Amino acid sequence: MPEYAKNQPAGFKNAVERVAIVGAGGTVGSHIVDALLKTGKHTLTALSRKDSSNKLPEGVLVAPIDYDNEATIIAALKGQQFLIITMAPNAPRDTHSKLVQAAAKAGVPYIMPNQYGADIENVKLGEEIMLGPVGKAQRDEIERLGMQWITVCCGFWYDYSLAGGEARFGFDFDKRSLTIYDEGNIKNSVSTLSQVGCAVAKVLSLKELPDDENDKSLTVSGWLNKALYITSFVVSQNEMFESVKRVMGTSDADWTVTHESTKKRYEDGLALVKSGNMAGFGKLLYARAFYPEDPGNCSDKAQNELLGLSEESLDEATQVGINMVKELQRRPERMAS
Ligand SMILES: NC(=O)c1ccc[n+]([C@@H]2O[C@H](COP(=O)([O-])OP(=O)(O)OC[C@H]3O[C@@H](n4cnc5c(N)ncnc54)[C@H](OP(=O)(O)O)[C@@H]3O)[C@@H](O)[C@H]2O)c1
Repeated sequence: MPEYAKNQPAGFKNAVERVAIVGAGGTVGSHIVDALLKTGKHTLTALSRKDSSNKLPEGVLVAPIDYDNEATIIAALKGQQFLIITMAPNAPRDTHSKLVQAAAKAGVPYIMPNQYGADIENVKLGEEIMLGPVGKAQRDEIERLGMQWITVCCGFWYDYSLAGGEARFGFDFDKRSLTIYDEGNIKNSVSTLSQVGCAVAKVLSLKELPDDENDKSLTVSGWLNKALYITSFVVSQNEMFESVKRVMGTSDADWTVTHESTKKRYEDGLALVKSGNMAGFGKLLYARAFYPEDPGNCSDKAQNELLGLSEESLDEATQVGINMVKELQRRPERMAS
């Protein structure tokens, strides 16, 4: 049965105002916080490990938590309407579940699970990059515990992936080298970190529920147990390279370009992962997304226009990515996988 604001108890306010976020100071979390704060419509509470040294953005309330003490997580989540989880990929596997279980006990109705990647409806790709079943299990757990989810399908983060070393989009800015997968013409749909933040803020700033059956406006409830699809650009490695050269004022002569087959990169990455070397993961993940017959392109589902998201410039995003290179190099755990 669809829910309407008109049927809610007296005092119901048709808005998502109290938002909790894990990873407020993180790669994507900081962009989500920034965009949410700009709306002026939300009170943000950052759940952060009690001994974390990560810097949290100004303007958020801080709730220190201890993953080994559920009561601290439940207390931090009491009264929250929406929990956004952005968590380091190397966090212990059960951390997501600890948050979800605590959210259920605290009465939080909605959760954005820690995904922010490929199209959840492309099951084959999800299985081959190994992340699909993990995300499905996270969403299933949310539903099983009586809550609802909204997950973000944004493809690769363009700026981050450009900056993040050879294993990602093939660029090594220190060596001025580029590995092109196959011929470099296969396109992926990708999103900038800031566009992910804007999209999340747009959805969470909608009315929570339609007023009544005649209300056809966009609402948060329209996305429940569904993906939020966004795309900044649909771009090939060759197009990225053209953009990089324009932005850096360089030419082909300044770059060493090699080609490698996506299939070989995928197999090599997989072999490394199977031997316990997570350096292979990025390699297999990005190589698989550029398979000619089934690339990571879900731009046909993009909801940018529906949400009124601004158009972006590829070259500006390329500049943002180049500016991120040193910052990512200071995160060795990130560069190693
Ligand atoms: N589409 C893409 O290209 C792409 C790329 C990378 C990642 N992703 C996805 O986005 C998600 C978020 O990535 P991110 O880079 O934003 O995360 P991140 O910045 O590395 O980490 C986010 C937060 O996780 C917490 N954290 C760190 N280590 C932890 C640990 N050992 N145990 C528990 N919490 C820990 C920290 O919060 P506190 O210190 O405040 O506790 C940190 O600020 C990833 O898990 C992945 O699913 C997508």
